[in-house]
Formats: sequence, C-alpha cells, structure tokens
Amino acid sequence: MSIKKVGVIGAGQMGNGIAHVIGLAGYDVLLNDIEPARIDEALATINGNLSRQVASGRISQADMDKALKHIGKAEKIDALADVDLLIEAATENEDVKLQILREVCPVVKPEATLATNTSSISITRLAAATDRPEKFIGMHFMNPVPVMELVEMIRGIATEDKTFTAATEFVGTLGKTVAVSEDFPAFMVNRILLPMINEAIYTLYEGVGNVDSIDTSMRLGARHPMGPLQLADFIGLDTCLSVMQVLYEGLADTKYRPCPLLVKYVEAGWLGRKAGRGFYDYRGDEPVPTR
Ligand SMILES: NC(=O)c1ccc[n+]([C@@H]2O[C@H](COP(=O)([O-])OP(=O)(O)OC[C@H]3O[C@@H](n4cnc5c(N)ncnc54)[C@H](O)[C@@H]3O)[C@@H](O)[C@H]2O)c1
Repeated sequence: MSIKKVGVIGAGQMGNGIAHVIGLAGYDVLLNDIEPARIDEALATINGNLSRQVASGRISQADMDKALKHIGKAEKIDALADVDLLIEAATENEDVKLQILREVCPVVKPEATLATNTSSISITRLAAATDRPEKFIGMHFMNPVPVMELVEMIRGIATEDKTFTAATEFVGTLGKTVAVSEDFPAFMVNRILLPMINEAIYTLYEGVGNVDSIDTSMRLGARHPMGPLQLADFIGLDTCLSVMQVLYEGLADTKYRPCPLLVKYVEAGWLGRKAGRGFYDYRGDEPVPTR
C-alpha cells in the first residue's frame, strides 16, 4: 500500500524529529502526545530546527514552508483514523507502549502499517498485542533524527514481507539508510552502544574518573564526537536505564546489569538534557558536570 499520511504518537525528542523528516519529505504527518503541551513544544522545536537547516543552506525557505504545512496536531487518537502508517515513539516502557497499541488498533484503519521506534523492546511481543502482527514493524530512528542517517529496521516473527518492503522504501524516501536487525534485545546499535555508556557510568561510580575526565578521555582518546556521559544525557537517562534493563532481563547475563548510579539519577528525575540536569547541569549558560 502507498503511504501518504503518517501519525506519530509521542511528541518528545524522537517524535518531533520523526515528524520533521516526514514533513520535509512531503508526507502529511500528525503528532499526538498524552500531554497536549508536548505537541506545541514539539512544533516549536521543529520550527527552530528547520530554521537552522535553512540558515545553514541545507534546505530552502520554500522547503521549510512546505514542510510546516504538512505537519499537524492530533490532539485525540481519533484524528489518526485514516493514517497509512502509525509510528509509536512514546516513552521507552513496555506497559506504556502496549497500552498505546491496544488503544490505537480499533481506531486506525485495518490496512494501515503500525511501527514502533522502540530502542530495545521485542517487536514480536509488541506486535502480538495488536490486531495486525503481520503489519507491524520496528523502525528505529536515531537521535537527532534530522541529522542521523541510519534507521534500523526490525521484523517481528509475523511481519509480512510486503510490510517490510513498503516500510523500507518509505524510510528510503526520507533520505535515510536502512540497517536490518534481527529482533533481539536492543537490536544492533544499542546492544553495542548502551553497555559502553553503562560502563562509563560504572567508571564514574567507582571513582576511576570524574564526569569531565571520562568524557574528555573518550572524546580525545577514542575520537568519539561526544563523551559517553554527555551522550547518555543526550539520549535521556530514563531511556538508557530502560534499554539496560531490557538487555539484562532479555539476555539473562549479569554483564548488562544497570549501574546503580544510573538508577539513582533516574530516581532523582535527573534525566539528562530534556530534564535540564543529568551528568551535566544544563540550567546555566554552559553545561556543568554534576560529579
Ligand atoms: N532518545 C534517544 O536517543 C532515542 C533514540 C532512538 C529511539 N528512541 C526511542 O524513542 C522513544 C521516545 O524516546 P524520546 O527520547 O523521544 O523520549 P521523550 O521522553 O523525549 O518523549 C516521550 C514522549 O512520549 C509521551 N508519552 C508517554 N506516554 C504516552 C502515551 N500513552 N500516549 C502518547 N504519548 C505518550 C511523553 O509525554 C513524551 O512527550 C522511546 O521508545 C525511545 O527508546 C530514543
């Protein structure tokens, strides 16, 4: 089936980026969130990010104006009834995702494809909670979506070839490159990346280095564009913890145990950049390490 209209559930860091690239590619896209204020914040973020792309010459003002016309709000789930593709990009919590899927299935037309942007949760298990596991797929965008080229595509056990082909073609039209992963905990990128971040947090927890020395080490010593703690703040510490829990439980191996210091930051609500504080404090002009 051809995809013309897309719905995105969850208007956070990822949802706004996904709507941005979809609108820019000329598809109609509607954003939904459980907190209506998040939709307005997302639209403001998209506006700001498109303006930056215009200022740097990557897109024209006409491209931006056209993209904005394609991006709208779906304050109620009912507004998503006629989308051809629904992308779930809400909080990384299986119960939250299952509840959303149960709620949208009776609303979204039966021929529509359902996708999830989960970083780690089993596609097969999420698909099984829907009325159309054969039309369900993992479509894992990277953060920040307008900048990052990769999308991991993950089939559940029941995903039909035509669902996979149509979804992969759609992602190609967004200018992204696809990497296909099997449906195992955290797929490929986060299976490799998150244990590295978790180890950086253990390095901090054990006092081997402080926030600044650990990040400087990896930036200058391993040529990483961001230090691992800066990257953790950028991803969101709640998402990092959730991915580690999925790895730990899903692979039943203690090498994936989440660092207690990561748990403590999440318990404090210090979730990283999006919360104003994490391994760095972002409330002033410059980020200041919190340890
Ligand atoms: N942050 C990253 O680097 C990254 C990268 C790739 C994929 N992801 C995945 O994308 C998803 C979203 O992550 P994020 O970083 O955007 O998180 P976020 O915290 O920025 O946004 C999550 C949004 O979901 C909304 N939400 C929660 N419950 C909802 C519900 N029942 N209905 C509608 N909206 C609801 C929240 O209000 C919030 O606006 C997660 O599955 C995450 O694992 C994140």
